[in-house]
Amino acid sequence: MKADKILKNFSQIFCPIDNGVPLRGEEMSKAVIIEDGYIAIKDGKILAVDQGEPDSDLINYDTEIVDYTGKLATPGLIDCHTHLVYGGSREHEFSQKLNGVPYLDILAQGGGILSTVRATRKSSFNELYDKSSALLDKMLAHGVTTVEAKSGYGLNWETEEKQLKVAKELNKNHVVDVVSTFMGAHAIPEEYKNRSGEFIDFVITEMLPKVKSENLAEFCDIFCEKGVFTAAESYKLLHAAKEMGFKLRIHADEIASIGGVDVAAQLGAVSAEHLMMITDEGIKKLSEAHVIGNLLPATTFSLMEDTYAPAKKMIENGMAITLTTDSNPGSCPTANLQFIMQLGCFMQKLTPIQVFNAVTINAAYSICRAETIGSFDKGKAADIAIFDAQNIDYPLYFFATNLVTDVYKAGKLISAL
Ligand code: NIG
Ligand code: FE
Repeated sequence: MKADKILKNFSQIFCPIDNGVPLRGEEMSKAVIIEDGYIAIKDGKILAVDQGEPDSDLINYDTEIVDYTGKLATPGLIDCHTHLVYGGSREHEFSQKLNGVPYLDILAQGGGILSTVRATRKSSFNELYDKSSALLDKMLAHGVTTVEAKSGYGLNWETEEKQLKVAKELNKNHVVDVVSTFMGAHAIPEEYKNRSGEFIDFVITEMLPKVKSENLAEFCDIFCEKGVFTAAESYKLLHAAKEMGFKLRIHADEIASIGGVDVAAQLGAVSAEHLMMITDEGIKKLSEAHVIGNLLPATTFSLMEDTYAPAKKMIENGMAITLTTDSNPGSCPTANLQFIMQLGCFMQKLTPIQVFNAVTINAAYSICRAETIGSFDKGKAADIAIFDAQNIDYPLYFFATNLVTDVYKAGKLISAL
């Protein structure tokens, strides 16, 4: 078959291995790295990836050939945990943070997530759309071609629906694909202060059925945390969501270990998020239940904490992990997934192969999209990130600098970088 486009002379092409399941344990250290290779594209999909000069039967008179001498290609990066859609920002809390006021104290005083809830409730659909679209542009410029996006800054139906509709519209119109998660239980709204149980019942009976019937989200998530939702409340909500056909995620063991990991394992969640405070026993449970650990090291960094999720130990115990931004206005205001990847090396001591697997194939599994993205297997979408780097070590070693020069989405060069 003839290619529409051939990108050639890459010094390295990073090819994750897609075995049909997420890469767990030592599998995370394996990948195929092609030296001096090319990528052939047909109808926006991968046709062939190999070493050397492209085979002549791939080339037609009108095949476009682009030279990428000295560059590195990887599958388009996947940011599998973001809070993309929100109003306002929270730099007014930065000095409190610098003075050591804990994140959960700021929330308990009505700030933090609740401050963003007020700003998001006030924002119009168009304001939220434009702001989130601009954030997606920045993510794209850092090599990201697909993101997961959570609601959770409404905490009432009107605003949760608005956020989810913005994400849906962006998925249609923006070049970056957006996978939606309903996170109506992200905090206890002021109207339900000290009545978290009633709020959970409200989310189950009033919000979840509407999210389902309007087809606004594929996943359901909850913030299981000290002073927010208990493990029992998390179980109740996620169990109901599962019955309604949602796939599950859970923010667990971020600041305190209060049982979210057990809930994830018991209900067969696709992923558990954060896990900074996970215990050895928790790692075993997630490993046995095949729950993916979505790790967010820039949140530890941004919260100015010292404890990073024990990524290496998770891998040694057979878990599959991803690395992701947590992009949000409070605990992690960033659009740069490359920085998170660097923290994966610098602070969690992961290897470059483990890091690139975490943000490609495993991230694809974490959003249930591995059939179409996350590796260069023939027939998957030609989503490609191209780095000004000769090998996979370089973009991790040369930190805090955007090294992505070109991004292809479904075979198309995105010039607005
Ligand atoms: O994943 N932990 C809860 N939710 C987000 C933070 C959201 C915010 O601070 O606005 C997180 O860290
Ligand atoms: Fe989060």
